Amino acid sequence: MKLFVYHTPELTPKVGFPDCAIAVDILRATTTISTALAAGAEAVQVFSDLDQLAKTSALHPEALRLKSAERGGTTVDGFDLGNSPFEYTPEMVKGKRIFMSTTNGTRALQCIQSAPIVLAAAMINLSSVLAYLQKNQPPVVWIVASGWQGSYSLEDTACAGAIAAGLDWEFGNDEAISAKCLYQQWSDRLEDLFRHATHGQRLLKLGGDLDIAYCASIDKVKVLPKQISAGVLAAGII
Ligand code: MLT
Repeated sequence: MKLFVYHTPELTPKVGFPDCAIAVDILRATTTISTALAAGAEAVQVFSDLDQLAKTSALHPEALRLKSAERGGTTVDGFDLGNSPFEYTPEMVKGKRIFMSTTNGTRALQCIQSAPIVLAAAMINLSSVLAYLQKNQPPVVWIVASGWQGSYSLEDTACAGAIAAGLDWEFGNDEAISAKCLYQQWSDRLEDLFRHATHGQRLLKLGGDLDIAYCASIDKVKVLPKQISAGVLAAGII
């Protein structure tokens, strides 16, 4: 296996897609997507653009849709849900399609949507992602961190490193090697690391203390968010 980590959607190549591409947005989009699918959501459909989200969701039966949008860490007015994983309870999401847009995470998913296999990874579903990769052995894997508006983020790199640490690979780019080192240095203090991170600090100011603790917990759920059509993720077979 050849493993490439990219720190932001902007740094991710636009051509030559790998066999499998994995988006990571620990705080909080891929954590929330994993939570929603584990809670029984039918699918999560991602958008970078809110107008496009509104148009597409309007075509879906009202009783079976929820619209979710976050910008800068807070819920966008007029949407059913924000991006806290705690909002995505079975009572709220079971059987529903979630039309979601977030500041960075949904952009990361959109930038890899042409890859033949697209997954979303978080700390809370780490073993599910690793089990899929170990079983299927895609020859070339990209891990695309969401970062924050074009810049590096510690928490996404730590998750990329956790994936790198759980796989056997014969080649990793420099980012994959350094992500693995970051994870190995902090693996028993992930929550502390996330609290130091820029977006962790932002979420703390917005009252996201419990969200950070949850996003740092490993294997809370057994679910594999896997793309079933462009931009649409559903629970895949692990
Ligand atoms: C993002 O896409 O940047 C986020 O997931 C931000 C957040 O809701 O914390």
